[in-house]
Amino acid sequence: MSNVKLAVIYYSSTGTNYKLASWAEEGAKEAGAEVKVLKVPELAPQSAIESNEAWKAHLEATQHVPEVTLDDLEWADAIIFSVPTRFGNVPAQMKQFLDTTGGLWFQGKLANKVVSAMASASNPHGGQEATILSLYTTMYHWGAIVAAPGYTDQVLFEAGGNPYGTSVTADQDGNLKENVEPAVKYQAKRTVMVADSIKKGMQ
Ligand SMILES: Cc1cc2nc3c(=O)[nH]c(=O)nc-3n(C[C@H](O)[C@H](O)[C@H](O)COP(=O)(O)O)c2cc1C
Repeated sequence: MSNVKLAVIYYSSTGTNYKLASWAEEGAKEAGAEVKVLKVPELAPQSAIESNEAWKAHLEATQHVPEVTLDDLEWADAIIFSVPTRFGNVPAQMKQFLDTTGGLWFQGKLANKVVSAMASASNPHGGQEATILSLYTTMYHWGAIVAAPGYTDQVLFEAGGNPYGTSVTADQDGNLKENVEPAVKYQAKRTVMVADSIKKGMQ
């Protein structure tokens, strides 16, 4: 049983990354972590949301999910991020949240957080890897410890073999093309395991 505190922080318009975040929550809890699933604030204008039924429905269905705060970052030993790609990059909603972390960074409060990331896109090669790597760039500046899955378990091959973090292809109706649930749970457990080791080692 670990005593790792893990925040799963996601952005999702149509539910894919909320699903990935929920699987990560399950995996991390199985590994004994205390887990919070948190969304970043929506920034899109209401008119854009209203024009897309799936987007509107997803935001309504996840109203109960708390929005992430800077206190959550301080609380967490480990963080798993989950984001859809936006032209091969991190969505503005997540980027805006990351850009509010300068104060914590300045105080050294983001150093040694154990982090990993997941991503989705509509196409199998639609920018999942680039999106995860782009998010990790900020993590290196934080002084975080990136716990990427690599090729450390067979389930990762079955999920498409993205060594940077689990990624998935979601079609227009939100159907996932790859079976990534085992890989997401594995990634969450690995993140908890690395965070537990770091935490114990630094005590
Ligand atoms: C502005 C915008 C840009 C996007 N860019 C890409 C892209 O470059 N490649 C791609 O395959 N999918 C792209 N997508 C599709 C999203 O990545 C996809 O809808 C998302 O992964 C679904 O995740 P969600 O259900 O959590 O919102 C884009 C979507 C939007 C709205």
